Amino acid sequence: MAQVKFFSGEQVPLEMHKVRIVQKLNLPPVEHRLKAITEAGNNTFLLQNKDVFMDMLTDSGVNAMSDQQQAAMLIADDSYAGSATYTRLESKLREIFGMAYFLPAHQGRACENILSQVLVSPGSIVPMNYHFTTTKAHITLNGGVIEELVSDAGLEVVSVHPFKGNMDIARLSAVIEEHGSNKIAFVRMEAGTNLIGGQPFSLENLTNVRRVCDKHDVLLVLDASLLADNLHFIKNREESCKDLSIREITRKMADLCDIIYFSARKLGCARGGGICIRTEELYRRMRGLVPLYEGFLTYGGMSVREMEALTVGLDETMDEDVINQGPQFIGFMVDELQKRGVPVITPAGGLGCHLNVMQFLEHVPQAQYPAGALASALYIASGIRGMERGTLSEQRDPDGNEVLANMELVRLALPRRVFTLSQVKYAIDRISWLHENRHLIGGLVFTEEPEILRFFYGRLKPVSDWQQKLFEKFREDFGDSL
Ligand code: F0G
Repeated sequence: MAQVKFFSGEQVPLEMHKVRIVQKLNLPPVEHRLKAITEAGNNTFLLQNKDVFMDMLTDSGVNAMSDQQQAAMLIADDSYAGSATYTRLESKLREIFGMAYFLPAHQGRACENILSQVLVSPGSIVPMNYHFTTTKAHITLNGGVIEELVSDAGLEVVSVHPFKGNMDIARLSAVIEEHGSNKIAFVRMEAGTNLIGGQPFSLENLTNVRRVCDKHDVLLVLDASLLADNLHFIKNREESCKDLSIREITRKMADLCDIIYFSARKLGCARGGGICIRTEELYRRMRGLVPLYEGFLTYGGMSVREMEALTVGLDETMDEDVINQGPQFIGFMVDELQKRGVPVITPAGGLGCHLNVMQFLEHVPQAQYPAGALASALYIASGIRGMERGTLSEQRDPDGNEVLANMELVRLALPRRVFTLSQVKYAIDRISWLHENRHLIGGLVFTEEPEILRFFYGRLKPVSDWQQKLFEKFREDFGDSL
């Protein structure tokens, strides 16, 4: 994809695949969109898909599958025990990651449940480059405390740092020394660090994390859900890795870890999850929880058809032409938005394009959930469903106080190989219109606030009639256009 030059000089990501199955989309008129988001309590998770034009909520379980993946689903072996499907998946994981043991699970957070139940106890500390919502919830539920040790660059919204997901090595050593290594449940590195904008860490950084873990004899766990993007960035941004194949980089990363777990709703473009484990001792400690929570050891709650698709998807992830489509489309979107003065997270990461709402809506206080407000406004303006990643996605502290997020983002995920470039251009167009009219956008307030993971199903309302005003301006500027 990257090597193709256009005669015109234009820099456009060129797809290395063709589309053979399509799904019809519906773009409801703006009146309908206003009504739909109101009925959804201004929470994009609660919108009905029939009302959504571009679903940029997530890349979880919605990446396009290849013809090879679909074909593999036909040969799935349903037998409860001794399934050939399981053996194929286990062998593929062993081939790619080089770890002896594998436990299947129904998705990423199920792996986190098992890891946390076995390794975390009250008072445990889990240092990590950055948390993911479900990871933190499971560790906390088991009495552990997370220590976020992402390098300072990670929280700089506008940056040219190629590896903003890097762990701060000095702080990692300090935290382990402060608490003592027996308090450290494990050190967790998240590939393609989700909540700070899909930002990668370098192989060099992971190597340094391993050194610290070795020194203190603590486990290193990799969350590989967003590994594909991270691999692409290591190959393209880390000088010492540019001549290595994706497969070689993957193995170098895996060799540094004791455990690798993943959401196969992201990694491998299927639906499921799993834990790869280096030692038999650790494997035995975790194994008993799989039949208890997931399913028998040969499927772990996954459909065997998805497992076949995953096996092929993992193999395809080792192909740079497959994994570069996401980051390159995201790079295009980020560049174009920047040209139009729209504040976005830079450099472009994986997963999606992230709008920097602290700057986009600097007039909306964090306690009024500016990122939630912008996600709602964007739906009204475009039918695009994005995801709030800011204060709304945090949990209140034990005293009931708001925990203000480090960043207020609207994440616009680009599920791999799903959207065309003209759809991405439409998104860019409507976002820049919204930016021009940002003064019209106001905040939100909860009408119904769940205690746990409130962003999934909480309901909110606008603090004023700002949505009506935004709608009127849309009609004024776009006439009767959708
Ligand atoms: N770890 C990371 C880095 C993730 O991004 C996710 C899911 C999980 C673990 C949990 O996996 O959903 O299969 O249980 N991220 C999704 C998202 C939900 O939209 O970013 P899961």
